[in-house]
Amino acid sequence: MPHLLIEGGHRLTGTVPAHGAKNAVLPLLAATLLPCGESVLHNAPRLSDVNGCLDILRQFGCRCAVDGRTVTVCADAADHPVISDDLMRKMRSSIVFLGAMMARFGEAHLSYPGGCELGPRPIDLHLAGFRQLGAEIREERGQLHAFLPHGRFIGNTVSLSFPSVGATENLLLAAVTAEGTTTILNAAREPEIADLAAYLTACGARIVLDDGTVTVEGVRQLTACEHTVMPDRIEVATYLAAVAVTGGEAELTSMCPAHVATILPVFSEMGCRVREYPDRVTLVAPGKLRRIPFLRTMPYPGFPTDAAAPLLAASTLAEGTSVFVESIFESRYKYTGELARMGARIKTEGRVAVVEGVPALSGAAVHCTDLRGGAALVVAALAADGVTAIHQLSHLDRGYDSLEQTLTILGADIRRVG
Ligand code: EPZ
Repeated sequence: MPHLLIEGGHRLTGTVPAHGAKNAVLPLLAATLLPCGESVLHNAPRLSDVNGCLDILRQFGCRCAVDGRTVTVCADAADHPVISDDLMRKMRSSIVFLGAMMARFGEAHLSYPGGCELGPRPIDLHLAGFRQLGAEIREERGQLHAFLPHGRFIGNTVSLSFPSVGATENLLLAAVTAEGTTTILNAAREPEIADLAAYLTACGARIVLDDGTVTVEGVRQLTACEHTVMPDRIEVATYLAAVAVTGGEAELTSMCPAHVATILPVFSEMGCRVREYPDRVTLVAPGKLRRIPFLRTMPYPGFPTDAAAPLLAASTLAEGTSVFVESIFESRYKYTGELARMGARIKTEGRVAVVEGVPALSGAAVHCTDLRGGAALVVAALAADGVTAIHQLSHLDRGYDSLEQTLTILGADIRRVG
């Protein structure tokens, strides 16, 4: 099976661009089911999850084309409201298609998304919200069968008990062509929501985002348009962690500093010199990183859960002990066992991880346990003594576009073999 071989010890230096955001392009691809005509998404990252979404859109009957990082989708001929089990299993986040499927077809049939490496991934908030907008949803034998008795969603007020990103996106996709007005209270504030709203608004939707409240006035018809996918803030955090842990200095371009406003201070706290510019950020790392006294992940604008793993990996070589508290997912620390194989000293208890900095890590054979855990292994391998072999690359390929090429530009010794 293909694996990465990384020889650690090379300072990362240079300039690399951020790519389009995985967590923006997935809901955007679901949204292309709604308008008539041909949608064009620029700056779409080349990821296996994007390919998974395109397979699902083609299964609906959409015409999809990819040219580099430009994706074109025309849903005019779509008439098949089903996602097959194999496609659902390939990508649990395909639940984000449910709202758009019902809005477009009046019905939707798909298997219940399983849990994933991060723990159970419930969708109760999604389903409760759809029901409040008039949907009838039967859950039986692991399948979801959803219908709109009135043919359209009916606008209503939905209050989320947790600012779920996916539920907010799903309900937004349901509301844009609903009959009447929908208000989503305690909605997620992640920038990916604003990116989705920008595309839908350009297609003719009437959306107001006001901090944690989303108000949507339903329209009958949307018309496809072009949209450029926002930059990936988690990818930026990952590469900054890689530069920081190798004592390097680099510039990340084509990114949005505001999206990483709670991440950059952590690098400064670790002793890095960080400078922000309108669409780029520079980081100069110290010879030895300082510890992170306390870091709690929170919904946006708090510190993002996805960026914790790469930072935790960098903290394994910091001076002193770092403490992390994970507030979003139940089991986000599976990867720390793999870091321990490299000599990291990490104690986890539920949602808390205590990382005691060590003088050095040693290369080892390790396995990705999930997407961001895999990123943590890459960060650690870049600073470890000797060569690290990283297996189960399918996790990494879901969320990092051109990982090896980007790190090679920065001076890493990294190869994909097998
Ligand atoms: C999105 O997942 C992202 N995925 C995740 O990124 C990210 O970590 C997460 O938001 C939080 O920011 C995509 O955008 C494709 P949630 P999502 O609904 O929508 C609970 C990555 O590595 N919850 O905000 O699934 C849930 O159990 C991935 O790029 C319910 O209880 O996140 C979790 O504890 C990982 N009921 C919390 O909310 C529900 O109906 C956050 O979930 C829905 C969620």
